[in-house]
Formats: sequence, structure tokens, C-alpha cells
Amino acid sequence: MPITKSHTTLQVSASGALGPLTPEEALHFERLDLSRLPRHVAVIMDGNGRWAQQRHLPRVAGHRSGTKTARTTIETCARLKIEALTLYAFSVENWRRPKAEIDFLMQLLREYLRQEMPLLQKNDIRMKFLGRTDELPRGVQDDVRDAMERTAGNKGMVLCVALNYGGRAEIVDAMNAILAEQNGNAGKPVITEESLAQHMYTSGLPDPDLLIRTSGEMRVSNFLLWQIAYAEIFVTETLWPDFNRARLLEALVEFQKRERRYGGIREGQPDTQKSARVVGE
Ligand code: FPP
Repeated sequence: MPITKSHTTLQVSASGALGPLTPEEALHFERLDLSRLPRHVAVIMDGNGRWAQQRHLPRVAGHRSGTKTARTTIETCARLKIEALTLYAFSVENWRRPKAEIDFLMQLLREYLRQEMPLLQKNDIRMKFLGRTDELPRGVQDDVRDAMERTAGNKGMVLCVALNYGGRAEIVDAMNAILAEQNGNAGKPVITEESLAQHMYTSGLPDPDLLIRTSGEMRVSNFLLWQIAYAEIFVTETLWPDFNRARLLEALVEFQKRERRYGGIREGQPDTQKSARVVGE
């Protein structure tokens, strides 16, 4: 059912797409221009540990709660017909965490892939994994491959899970892939922005236009370094397990307030060099 936004149809039509909205969600949804949504949203899901700590719970309880937020975010983005959603689940640096926490995260991901498969299928979501997945424990590799194969025919949103992911590692991997293809190309410049983009893990997807980071840290943390060149960055103090649907809709509304210039100038803005000359003359 298409999403329409007149006051009278909001509840009815939204229940077809997002389900019934809370008053707070409705407030943000009303402000959202559905024709100008980001094509690709990337998320640094931070703050699980702090969320647990605040409740005197073990850190892993924060991760478990974070999977619920992941589910809501995935389903909401899919239903809004956003093309791609990338979630930063495990970085190449995360191996520095205690082994028990790493084991828990790997187990949680396997559980998640198994339990959420019906939801992924129902929402026509295609799964992709970004990162050096060949270095993951064997069981995780099997589940990752299985999830990709089972959703390969889906035509809706692409859900990318960044797993054993590093932005620098990705650029190095892309360069090496290009060099491996180099034979026969002697003399021609093979490393171009286009060739690199084609060899990134995200090849074929639009670059993220919105990067959300929860829990307030003002860092990029080695995430999608190449792809976020022009992304709008939205940082919220909200910890990931508390990042509910209202917060997500709020981030999308905030994105639409940004003026995206890609290094150019605002349309209709006076030519500043000319004005400067006039003033100087
Ligand atoms: C950062 O919080 C979070 C992670 C390193 C793991 C994110 C994983 C999940 C939400 C669960 C599984 C994901 C999917 C896609 C189902 P942190 O531990 O660094 O928190 P802190 O900064 O408060 O310590």
C-alpha cells in the first residue's frame, strides 16, 4: 500500500507501511518528504555497553538489546523503500575486545540471522556482508553465506552488515583486487576513482547519503571511509538500544533539512567572486 500523508489517511495508510504510529512517530512522519529520502543509510550502532552499564547489566545485555533496535531499523527502512541500509556490526578493531564478548557477538549474529530470516524474506530484503568475512569463525562464515544465498533473489532493500570490517582494509582490498586484474592492462592507468568504487565491498550500491552514529561520539571509526565522502552525518546522544523508530524518523527529517552542495554553491546564491570584485572596484 502506498504511503500517503494527509491527516485523515495517516493512521490507515501508515499502518500498511509502518504499522500504527505513536504520537511522537506521527509527528516526525508528518514532516518527512517521502520523495526525498536518503537512498542509502549507514549506521554506527554505538552505546550498547554504556546502556547495559547504566542498568547494572553485563555489556552483552546491551548487545542483545541492540539487536531489537537493529530489527526495528531494518524493517522501518525497508518499508520506507530506502534502497540500502548498512549496519556496522563488528570492526577489524573489535578483535581487541575480551574473547567472551567477541564469542557472544558472533553467537548473537548467528542467532539473529536464523531468527530474523522470516522477517527479511517478508520484507523482500537482500543481504550483503561487507568486510573480510573469510577471517570469521567457520560457523559464522557458513551462516553468512547461507543468509546471502537465501535472500539473493529478493528485490527490495539491500541490508549490508559490516562484519570484520575496516575502511582502510577495504581500500587496501580494492587496490589489491585491481592489481590482480592488471595483467594485460600495461601502460593504462588502472587506479581511478571509478575502478576503486567498482572494487569496494559496496560496489553497485549508491554511496550512503546519511551516516547515523548513536551515543554521541564524534568519530567515523574507520567506517566506509571511501563511501561517506559526501554523506550527511547525524550524531545523536541516544544509545543504540534506545534508538527507536521515532529517533530514526527524526534523523531522516533532520537529513532533509541539510543543504547538499557537493562542493558547489547553493543554487541562486550570488557569484561571490563577482560580488567581491564589485566591492573591490
Ligand atoms: C558498539 O557498542 C556495538 C557493537 C560493537 C556491536 C553491535 C552489534 C549489535 C547491535 C548486535 C548485532 C548486530 C546485528 C546487525 C544484528 P559498544 O559495545 O562499543 O558500546 P559502548 O561504546 O557503550 O561500550
